Amino acid sequence: MKNLLLFCCLLLLLAGCQPSTNSNSKTTSVTSPSGNNQIEFQLSSDGQPGYLVKHNSKIIIDSSLMGFDFKTQKGFINNFKIKNTSTETQKETWEMPWGEQRSVLNHYSQLKVELEESAPPHRPWNIYFRAYDDGVAFRYEFPKQEGVDTLFILDEKTQFQLTGDPTCWWIPGDWDIYEHLYSTTKFSEINAVSKANHPNLAQTHIPENSVNTPMTMKADDGLHLSFHEANLTDYAGMTLKTDTKNLLMTSSLVGSNIRDYKVKRALPFKTPWRTIQIADQAKDLIASKLIVNLNEPNKLGDVSWFKPKKYVGIWWEMHIDVARWDYGVREENAPKQAVPPKPHGKHGATTENAMRYIDFAAKNNIGGVLVEGWNRGWELWIGFDDREDVFDFVTPYPDYDLKKVADYAKSKGVEMIMHHETSSTPRTYSKQLDTAYALMKSLGMHSVKTGYVGPIIPKGEYHHGQWMVNHYRKVLETAAKYQVAINAHEPIKATGIRRTLPNAISREGLRGQEFNAWASDGGNPPEHLPIVAFTRMLSGPIDFTPGAFEMSLKTKPNNQINTTLAQQLALYVVIYSPIQMACDLPQNYENQPAFQFIRDVGVDWEQSIVLDGEVGDFVTIAREERGTGNWFVGSITDENKRTVKINFDFLPEGKTFKAKIYKDGANAHYKTNPLDIIIEEENIDKNTIKEFVLGEGGGLAISLVE
Ligand code: NOJ
Ligand code: CA
Repeated sequence: MKNLLLFCCLLLLLAGCQPSTNSNSKTTSVTSPSGNNQIEFQLSSDGQPGYLVKHNSKIIIDSSLMGFDFKTQKGFINNFKIKNTSTETQKETWEMPWGEQRSVLNHYSQLKVELEESAPPHRPWNIYFRAYDDGVAFRYEFPKQEGVDTLFILDEKTQFQLTGDPTCWWIPGDWDIYEHLYSTTKFSEINAVSKANHPNLAQTHIPENSVNTPMTMKADDGLHLSFHEANLTDYAGMTLKTDTKNLLMTSSLVGSNIRDYKVKRALPFKTPWRTIQIADQAKDLIASKLIVNLNEPNKLGDVSWFKPKKYVGIWWEMHIDVARWDYGVREENAPKQAVPPKPHGKHGATTENAMRYIDFAAKNNIGGVLVEGWNRGWELWIGFDDREDVFDFVTPYPDYDLKKVADYAKSKGVEMIMHHETSSTPRTYSKQLDTAYALMKSLGMHSVKTGYVGPIIPKGEYHHGQWMVNHYRKVLETAAKYQVAINAHEPIKATGIRRTLPNAISREGLRGQEFNAWASDGGNPPEHLPIVAFTRMLSGPIDFTPGAFEMSLKTKPNNQINTTLAQQLALYVVIYSPIQMACDLPQNYENQPAFQFIRDVGVDWEQSIVLDGEVGDFVTIAREERGTGNWFVGSITDENKRTVKINFDFLPEGKTFKAKIYKDGANAHYKTNPLDIIIEEENIDKNTIKEFVLGEGGGLAISLVE
């Protein structure tokens, strides 16, 4: 098919359908502003659309076909002809209300190809292509059709034809969860189905050999590509089916066992963008702003009611079994809504405990406190099928005085962060959204961590299908009306919606810190985060919850944190999120000199500079804090000890900074000596170049204050 397409392109070329200065011919390719990336539209001899991508004139995605299968009409396969093409360029800068950087350049060239079936009923189909200097993207538009108002999509068949067998960092195309460890294999060796039945996942469904996005790969010549999607709105999440023999990926949408279609949309509509980030060096992937740029501008206007912040919370103590979310023991055969009459005495969310965390936050420059397990329903959380109408998002357990805690927090200048574990009952949650957010507003709470643990009810829907995509969006939109920001766990993937709805502040959507507390597979290996930085993090902010100080967990002798202490600090810089947890227990931070870094580190950035990195090995990032001009540097390594050279030439001219350096000690090792840390102070300026040794699983964190 590849050869056929190439042949047809040749024909097209001869027929004058290639880009040309001849004004009679139709433009069918578009080149990025600096000329490095080009995406070409192609039409095969039988009228099937496709495309090809070049980087510096070299083909990096070979001829790839596009198509759709529909339930109630003939698929979009072939028999199309070009009706019209048009191009435009855009160059704008826009401001992030909070983010990795203040201003973002959105500069691209666009080609719109208007297609029409050659034979009756002459259905129209448009494709938009955009070329940026950091990648390319395209999306489909389904215009109105005579006599048809709704389209039922069985699947989208967008191909991505690779030109070699790159090294890939991938997680399986699970329809229900992204919390898998990354595998590093050649493309030809991807075996996603082998990841099924993971013992630590509350829900998982991997129907075929496909991967989830962002999917990052490195070709033999060093070129990095990352495949993802932008503006996932009223559509199903996309996985990429891998044909390992033919080095071909094809979009495969997340479906449902209830509906006999994957997407239902009223005409006209546009699909999400299919994106390919293209980078000569790994570090440029992290700097890319392609995904947010492909989303629409801020629709919420002034969002200054949310302030980026660090937070602590009644959280880790549950994950390490010191406390429990539920209040007491459930009586056998008790009605679902009954409050357990017998407290077991291990309930974490008590008024007193919350006040203890508030005091700690107020003393330590930490703006927020999260309390999990405060509300009724937890005794029926995990392992129950009948979860509908169990969780109550307004009624606290008897030992938690919501109002008193909120007032106390306010008096201390701390903001409470709400918690809504839906236990994957979106209908139950939807019914309570308005009352729950109105309650938050009345208490002065502007952010909520949501959760979707367990298989979705109704059974047969999956976390990443269209039905849930619409639920997650409805939550964001409803919350915005009450000035509430969302940090979703077990979320739909980030696709840059934060540009349009900035109250999408952060999310999980990866194996977070919590796995170190209880995963039966030994927790997150040291290479996990050096992979995450170049995969999951390309999609948007991550609520990873760093800041563990007790690495060998007293209450969990079989678990440990597989990083050094210096790496836990470095994560505040390496991982971007406008809310960053200090996850450990307050008592584990007492009298710890290293905790000073968490007190000091910023959470909102004027600019970010990715200094160096290789996927799965290490990454070093410098960020300038908004409003203060302070700089912070974070560097992390995998299981290998390595020397990192930092050139501080990113610092402003003529200024000397007091640097506080938190580095691995000579014997630091994530397994044997994670707490070996050296803290030093010295002056650093623009001319400083320094080498640092990171231990196995180690890190480096530097604060630079003028
Ligand atoms: C899973 C979340 O990732 C975790 O942070 C939370 O504590 C539990 N669900 C309970 O909601
Ligand atoms: Ca989780």
